[in-house]
Amino acid sequence: MPGSLAFPTTFRSSASHQPRFDAVIIGAGAAGLLCAALAGHRGRRVLLLDHWPKVAEKIRISGGGRCNFTNLHTRPENFLSGNPHFCKSALSRYGPQDIIALLRKHRIGFHEKHKGQLFCDDSAEQLITALLEECAAGQVTHWQPCAVEAVEAAAPGFRVRTAKGWVSTDALVVATGGLSIPQIGASPFGYQLAEQFGLPIVPPRPALVPLAFDPALWAPFADLSGVSLEVDIQTDYEHRTVNFREDLLFTHRGLSGPAILQSSSYWQAGKPLRINLMGEVSEAAWIQSKQGNRRTLAGELSQHLPQRLAHALCAQTGDADRRMADFSDKALRTLWQHWHAWPVLPSGTLGWRKAEVTAGGIDTRALSSSTLMAMDVPGLHFIGEVVDVTGWLGGYNFQWAWSSAAACAQAL
Ligand code: FDA
Repeated sequence: MPGSLAFPTTFRSSASHQPRFDAVIIGAGAAGLLCAALAGHRGRRVLLLDHWPKVAEKIRISGGGRCNFTNLHTRPENFLSGNPHFCKSALSRYGPQDIIALLRKHRIGFHEKHKGQLFCDDSAEQLITALLEECAAGQVTHWQPCAVEAVEAAAPGFRVRTAKGWVSTDALVVATGGLSIPQIGASPFGYQLAEQFGLPIVPPRPALVPLAFDPALWAPFADLSGVSLEVDIQTDYEHRTVNFREDLLFTHRGLSGPAILQSSSYWQAGKPLRINLMGEVSEAAWIQSKQGNRRTLAGELSQHLPQRLAHALCAQTGDADRRMADFSDKALRTLWQHWHAWPVLPSGTLGWRKAEVTAGGIDTRALSSSTLMAMDVPGLHFIGEVVDVTGWLGGYNFQWAWSSAAACAQAL
């Protein structure tokens, strides 16, 4: 494995002569790799540590193996955080064009798939190789797998007990990611370390995650598995309404697809999502359409929605076979209003095993937005997903990993 060096013999020494680094970075995922490489290029002596046998598993599996590594339309509005302004500084200093430049430097082909989402043409593996090459060029010492067993404050800096012995460092960068997909190395280490140093944490929760539905309540729609359509979907979040226009997919267990994943990051237990199934059909046009209309309700709704969905919705009203012309304006208005903001109540999420990311994390109020350093613990930095900054679906989470990593590297 490139950079996976054996413990240098010159470092094997007594506690008073521990190997000393300018920065120890814990976590060799997207954020940790880029931060290590950039700090190494700035002449810093960097140790990069990761407990997992394989490097950057999430880059490898992301985007169906092609890694949606950024989004051309990245803006602060695409991120969820206790402080929506926090991400601005880092995003403005290392944006999509910077990571694109890195791919170009390594001759990695990429393409835009949809809505500004950039994917590698061939394989995410190429991006991992590029990051490892950058680390090697920056003379980063990379120990992997190597567990971190303890961290202690030591004036100045920190002492870190690793599976290969103690090291000391001026700066400690925590890039251990979130809790999603524990089967490939996710751990709560970053949150535990924050607690050890007295930093506040916004409770982590699964985000970009499929939502679960009560099987009994969902039974009338279970046969719609495979139906998909683009919808506007709304979620109430704190004191505002969050809207997405995305594809919705019916499954035999409930709803899925990008519309649900995006909404899940904002969804609060017990609150319904509202889905506009009437698309561009206005209330007035819907009522107007009854004039001389011999179609049934289900037949008319099928003009706007997939037929199976139209029939399932109309079956709920008990009026599926009634002719449009026979409805009162009031009855049609009531139906339009129901389907224009069709309420669906999730019973929960499918949890950490299915979540793409973790919302919540190290509270941004405790961190500097320009250096990602804990304001009350000089030298302790948190970058990437472990921080309370969560991107939408579509390449934003990797962009946050790159941007926060670069901002931190500048400060090391
Ligand atoms: P990341 O999780 O990448 O790295 C953390 C590293 O820390 C890991 O290598 C881990 O082993 C290590 N670590 C953890 N605990 C440790 C400990 N105790 N000691 C030492 N090391 C430790 N985003 C996006 O923008 N586009 C996409 O296409 C996708 N697709 C996608 C698919 C799937 C299935 C998932 C699960 C996630 C995505 N994401 C995504 C999200 C994206 O993968 C994620 O936001 C970034 O990888 C976060 O980068 P970090 O470096 O912060 O954490």
